[in-house]
Amino acid sequence: MVTGDLFGAEVSGPDLAQLESLRQQLHHHAHQYYVLDQPEIPDAEYDRLFRELQAIEQAHPELITPDSPTQRVGGKPLAQFASVRHAVPMLSIRTETDTEASGAENFDARVRRELELDEADPPVEYVAEPKFDGLALNLRYEHGVFVQATTRGDGETGEDVTQNIRTIGQVPLRISGGVPDVLEVRGEVYMRRDDFETLNNRQREKGEKTFVNPRNAAAGAVRQLDPAIAAQRPLSFYAYGVGEVLPSKAGSVLPDTQYGLLKQLESWGFPLSALVTIAQGAPELIAYHIRIGQQRDTLPFDIDGVVYKVNALALQKRLGFVTREPRWAVAHKYPAQEQQTRMIGIDVQVGRTGKLTPVARLAPVFVGGVTVTNATLHNLFELRRKRVRVGDTVIVRRAGDVIPEVVGVVPTPHPHYVPNFHMPPTCPICGSAVVREKGEINHRCSGGLFCAAQRKQAILHYAQRRALDVEGLGEKLVDQLVDTQVIRTLPDLYRLGLSGLAALDRMAEKSAQNVLDAIEKSKHTTLPRFLFGLGIRHVGEATAKELARHFGKLDAIMEASPEALLQVNDVGPIVAQSIHIFFAQEHNREVVEQLRSCGVSWEEGDAAAAAPQLLAGQTFVITGSLPNLSRDEARDMIEAAGGKVAGSVSKKTSYVVAGAEAGSKLDKAQALGVTVIDEAHLLALLKGPE
Ligand code: IVH
Repeated sequence: MVTGDLFGAEVSGPDLAQLESLRQQLHHHAHQYYVLDQPEIPDAEYDRLFRELQAIEQAHPELITPDSPTQRVGGKPLAQFASVRHAVPMLSIRTETDTEASGAENFDARVRRELELDEADPPVEYVAEPKFDGLALNLRYEHGVFVQATTRGDGETGEDVTQNIRTIGQVPLRISGGVPDVLEVRGEVYMRRDDFETLNNRQREKGEKTFVNPRNAAAGAVRQLDPAIAAQRPLSFYAYGVGEVLPSKAGSVLPDTQYGLLKQLESWGFPLSALVTIAQGAPELIAYHIRIGQQRDTLPFDIDGVVYKVNALALQKRLGFVTREPRWAVAHKYPAQEQQTRMIGIDVQVGRTGKLTPVARLAPVFVGGVTVTNATLHNLFELRRKRVRVGDTVIVRRAGDVIPEVVGVVPTPHPHYVPNFHMPPTCPICGSAVVREKGEINHRCSGGLFCAAQRKQAILHYAQRRALDVEGLGEKLVDQLVDTQVIRTLPDLYRLGLSGLAALDRMAEKSAQNVLDAIEKSKHTTLPRFLFGLGIRHVGEATAKELARHFGKLDAIMEASPEALLQVNDVGPIVAQSIHIFFAQEHNREVVEQLRSCGVSWEEGDAAAAAPQLLAGQTFVITGSLPNLSRDEARDMIEAAGGKVAGSVSKKTSYVVAGAEAGSKLDKAQALGVTVIDEAHLLALLKGPE
């Protein structure tokens, strides 16, 4: 702190070095977290640094700069976006619509012809990149500071969306190290598939409008006039080129290849896709098209093709442009992920939890690389909001391993919509009443395990790879086993005999034996797998792991009160209640007991179980470096014993665990009178009374 004696009073001025150090640290950690996905510090520590910076800036608003990490959100809603003329036009690329190998061959042949190469000349070197399915964006940096983001618009003029783009953690606000005076980075802003699903599920739960696809959701977020709303829409970014570049006086020179350029951008902190690669000649382009095509479904984001670019910038210059398209680049497409088709009917499917899902029956359509005949309509309300009617032409989307869905009606929904589909009053499978609880979006069958559909789903859920992993126990077999009443409950699975199985349709003795072997093998499992396999509502894989880690033993979980369950990481009141209710039901306990007596077993941990609740209800803050334990280890141990670890000290903090070089948290603890302990004391607490 710089302090000065002014008229006899002590006035503290801002510590500029501290301010700069905080900003640098935050820039560094944002890059580790958002771009590299390798955080070096806990979130709470990041928050602490952030708040420290915020506090200094609040006291001295004149020191706030546009590239400060605190300025990512905070702009006011706009009435409209300003237009910006691009310094260098944003062009589009020629598209090879033919999805076969010839797309790459044609391009390579054209490039070779233009460059007057003959057969004896070596292959042309290309860069092969994914064609991200988002929106093109121009990011302008002046003297290393992010000053403006613009959309492509018509290629000549775009819109100033700086406020919204600032909220994207992956976009650096400041770059350094031989950066040109003016640098425009071009790339694609997009929404990851998982972020898109989460966003849509959230919208669905709230009964609000869902987005058609990640691209539309991203476009909506980028063009959102209120940056506070934009900040809640999770966007990502990949760099693929540059726009205007004005070198610095110091003479910074950019690399002379497309690949070198991308690597340089990466080293300045821009996200670069790991799928970008160098390819020699047409054969390697074709191989790339095929390889990325095979990976397409499992990528975390949508792509609609790949892009090939001549690597040497000198050759790019020689090739030049035709009208608005460069001769040195081409986009090579994949089959579209959205198609139109006629909806010929709506079926109702019953899920594991009894949820009724309207499913569109479609005229077969080739979409996202497969032929689709069914697509989900999610729920009655979504179907109505989209104004879908049987007989309509609809848009079907299939992307990644997500189940195909109907995303809209073509051309426009009916102005006077009269639905021609209604939820059945009784379950189409078991005839039990269909109910919809107050405030719930979904209709459910009230039949529980009496309902064959729910039983089938429960068995499939139990047998899936990530649960008990019974290989070969697929949908068709489960259908038969349940329909013929060979299996009524989960434990029946372990009472199956060879003759019973082999008697089923098409079940040869050999494959029956394979299934029996797989069932036998599944008996040796782990507690998290078993817990997940039980299909308790709201208990996914991650929660099952946390429960197992926290309690160690199944019995402890079965007996846990909702309060005790709440102590588990990431378990909130709804999940705690759901687990408690599940194990409170006699028939569920019975199923568990029978499975155990059929030989299903796992190793029970007891580290956590030995002292499950020793620190329940206590909140710890860890600060400084401890002599033996890392902070993560200390946190794990506290959490395993039922305690909570917080990032900042408050009156509610039970203990501050302080190590060497403990900073402001220690001061705060002392100021608030919170008990401060050392590592040895913590270990003693974990051990419990002698
Ligand atoms: S390069 C002059 N590379 O495709 C070449 N574009 O029609 C400028 N796109 O609007 C574009 N992935 O939004 C390039 N790896 C990639 C791309 C890519 C997606 C989009 C971009 C542009 C459109 C080109």
